[in-house]
Amino acid sequence: MRHVSALLLSTALTISTPGFAQETADAVAPEGATEGQVQAMTDEVIAALEAKLEGVPVTSENWMIAAANPLAVEAGAKVLRAGGSAADAMVAVQVVLGLVEPQSSGLGGGAFLVWYDAASGQMTTLDGRETAPLAATPTLFQDENGEPLKFFDAVVGGLSVGTPGTPALLEEAHRRWGRASWPGLFADGIRLADEGFLVSPRLASLVENDADRLSRFPETAAYFLPDGQPLQQGQRLMNPDYAETLRMLASDGAAGFYGGEIAADIVRTVRNAPGNPGVLAGVDLALYQVIEREPVCADYRAYEVCGMGPPSSGALTVGQILGMLNSYDLAAMGAESAEAWRLIGDASRLAFADRGRYMADSDFIPMPTKGLVDPGYLSQRAALLESEVALSEVAPGKPEFDHALIWADDVSLELPSTSHISIVDSYGNVLSMTTTIENGFGSRLMTNGFLLNNELTDFSFKTHSDGVPIANRLEPGKRPRSSMSPTIVLKDGEPVLAIGSPGGSRIIGYVAKSIIAWADWGMDVQQAVSLPHLVNRFGTYDVEAATSAEGFTDALAQLGFEVNARDLTSGLHAIEIGDGLSGGADPRREGIALGE
Ligand code: GLY
Repeated sequence: MRHVSALLLSTALTISTPGFAQETADAVAPEGATEGQVQAMTDEVIAALEAKLEGVPVTSENWMIAAANPLAVEAGAKVLRAGGSAADAMVAVQVVLGLVEPQSSGLGGGAFLVWYDAASGQMTTLDGRETAPLAATPTLFQDENGEPLKFFDAVVGGLSVGTPGTPALLEEAHRRWGRASWPGLFADGIRLADEGFLVSPRLASLVENDADRLSRFPETAAYFLPDGQPLQQGQRLMNPDYAETLRMLASDGAAGFYGGEIAADIVRTVRNAPGNPGVLAGVDLALYQVIEREPVCADYRAYEVCGMGPPSSGALTVGQILGMLNSYDLAAMGAESAEAWRLIGDASRLAFADRGRYMADSDFIPMPTKGLVDPGYLSQRAALLESEVALSEVAPGKPEFDHALIWADDVSLELPSTSHISIVDSYGNVLSMTTTIENGFGSRLMTNGFLLNNELTDFSFKTHSDGVPIANRLEPGKRPRSSMSPTIVLKDGEPVLAIGSPGGSRIIGYVAKSIIAWADWGMDVQQAVSLPHLVNRFGTYDVEAATSAEGFTDALAQLGFEVNARDLTSGLHAIEIGDGLSGGADPRREGIALGE
């Protein structure tokens, strides 16, 4: 089942050359590895890339890892091979992703982590989301007339930077579930930053497209546009500042990031950003905390689909979509049925209407969290789908609320970037983590070798609508609403699937579709991930350009949908847990699944 467009396919093929795989193996082979061992690693990277392009899952017995770049996956695989846990491997993967896929995630950003603990059978979620500075005001993204700023006027510069959460999350995950020594988890990141890595086709093309914005700040321009020219694919890129930051994290832990020189540099960079200074202060970094939260779970068929609750809208919105579709026999309809896609699209629109009205950081606003995924409520919402054609209008519902408050609909824009990591370790622990600096290249501000996020633009730029407050308005210390949907699916209390994706608010549609493809249409994880996307959030049905999804255009238009063909660049990484493990990596990006 090969559905990727020619452009994406050629990008993926470029990095699947033996030369690239050999570089990957050379760069992360264990100290003292023999030629034979390096060759075995080279072969496994080639095999993983080929499996993805051929549309077949990678299988294994003991452990599996799926993430967005082969160098990062190999760094994590090395940790798992040596007996480390999924939490250990995640640290190694994240520090390498922050180097080789800097546009998507890193130390200057935030993340959500879902963990299934094999020993206790418990699921835990950790919130490492950025916070709004204490000095930020609700009108941060409005001009002097109270009008919302244009999106990129808000994004680029210091105004959009929230307190990073990722370093604290790495440390907290390792503290709870780590087995390997902390400093060792930074070794590959440090080595790759010191010795250099080959710029991937995707990074090179994104730098070229964003050259104007990246050139606004000297430190960022010097790294991404050396001598004024965008980085080229295949160029060796070193990042000694990042290596230094990793050395500090390895020796001092997250305390060295949230206090001391790095914290001072972050604050200085944000506050002195030319043209668009922000308000982040040392106190915001000093006070930052990872928060453990209750997982949000929704029933779907024989499964329980669990993920990250507020401030993410991910698990609630995915859960709502699936909860409504529980009333319809999608399996009988099949993936080729326009009727199935009508139901999926309109269920998604109904869920997005609730998301826009009710979902935000529940530490700051009362939220009907339980009511939103209550099966009775979702059955009522599902009844709205009993129609022959697309819904002409979609409005938020009235979930059971324990507070008498009224919210207005949200106004915020999220563009895709972000990265997803799925890992199962040899102890049976399962990790699903989505990690981000928000927009591609975040705020474009860089310090100490990493980019700073623009996560605050995930807040609504407007605070009120017709005098009614908006739940996701900015407030000091609040965490912006996210769409990130790191998910673990359970059956009879046991984990059977880990999945998640980047993609802005389309993340929700990518993850819901892949779960439906896997649970209802009998696809394996690679088929489910590769299946062309059809996503509807607010009315327009996005169909993935240059794929078989475009074949639904006429049928969906006849049902009354406006249809738009476009690139839908998810980055799904999924692992199925059954008799063995099966991994799937998104052919639209550069990642792989690897296991043993
Ligand atoms: N900034 C992407 C998200 O949190 O959904």
